[in-house]
Amino acid sequence: MEFNLQHEVNKNDGAIVIRNLVKKYDKHVVLDNISLVAKEGETTVIIGPSGCGKTVLMKHMIVLERPTSGEVYFRGQRIDELSENELVPVRTQYGFLFQGGALFDSLSVYENIIFAIRQHRKITDWKEVDELVKDRLAMVGMDGYQEHYPANLSGGQQKRVALARAIALEPYIILYDEPTTGLDPIRSDVINELILKLKRELQVTSVVVTHDMKSAYKIADRIVMLHEGHILADGDAEHIRNHPHPVVQSFIHGRLSEAELEALRHGGTKFKTQYNPEDFEPAEPV
Ligand SMILES: Nc1ncnc2c1ncn2[C@@H]1O[C@H](COP(=O)(O)OP(=O)(O)OP(=O)(O)O)[C@@H](O)[C@H]1O
Ligand SMILES: [Mg+2]
Repeated sequence: MEFNLQHEVNKNDGAIVIRNLVKKYDKHVVLDNISLVAKEGETTVIIGPSGCGKTVLMKHMIVLERPTSGEVYFRGQRIDELSENELVPVRTQYGFLFQGGALFDSLSVYENIIFAIRQHRKITDWKEVDELVKDRLAMVGMDGYQEHYPANLSGGQQKRVALARAIALEPYIILYDEPTTGLDPIRSDVINELILKLKRELQVTSVVVTHDMKSAYKIADRIVMLHEGHILADGDAEHIRNHPHPVVQSFIHGRLSEAELEALRHGGTKFKTQYNPEDFEPAEPV
């Protein structure tokens, strides 16, 4: 069982390796010495309460944010110090599904997808591009919607188109920020199935940020829980389900912790509880 809040990681341990990452905005420490590996071909899911730094952490993986200190590696190459120009060939290997989906409203589905392609290469053979768009839309069950505009699609359809756009260039890695948020359970499950299918068919490495534990259990090879700037838990679904830490249990069952309830009931202003590793024992020997 992995139960090491500060474990050593090496640059070749996975497709993405984050080492001793600290991120501060002025004096606000959002990420406090995070080390994390997204293994090749696996789906790593990041969970944690709103505002705990999941999106910030994910942005570091594609260097949309730069560390205050620490390192980020992609396929063994250090990327957090590269210039924007040097990052271009690196980012080509990423698919990125932003929080909120973010299709361009003024562009058709077809145009949204070729937008991603055009950013990275000059299109000369339009027939080939038509085929590629058709193929990607078919993968997410949206072939035939090429001429539709985002405003005329449901939330779930928009997410699927955004996913088709993220995979347009056969990425090596896909980063998903809250891919199922705002979707009903059936539409969420369509997205879960697509994430599993992309892993199966493209052998893609994925990192998924989510609040949705049902989705996390279904798609994750590994789940990492972030809390107050630290990694609180890191392991497979079983490990997380049986995790002894009260904050992990409260989170996965959607409950407030005892301390938070106490604070709410008694009108206290202190909502934050400090836990130390010695406050609890791992279920199994390390
Ligand atoms: N550019 C920024 N400047 C200053 N503070 C920021 C910036 N980006 C994020 N933060 C702060 O960092 C913290 C973590 O934000 P982040 O968006 O990563 O949370 P999150 O875990 O993704 O939350 P949610 O689940 O609500 O999406 C928040 O307190 C946020 O205000
Ligand atoms: Mg977020």
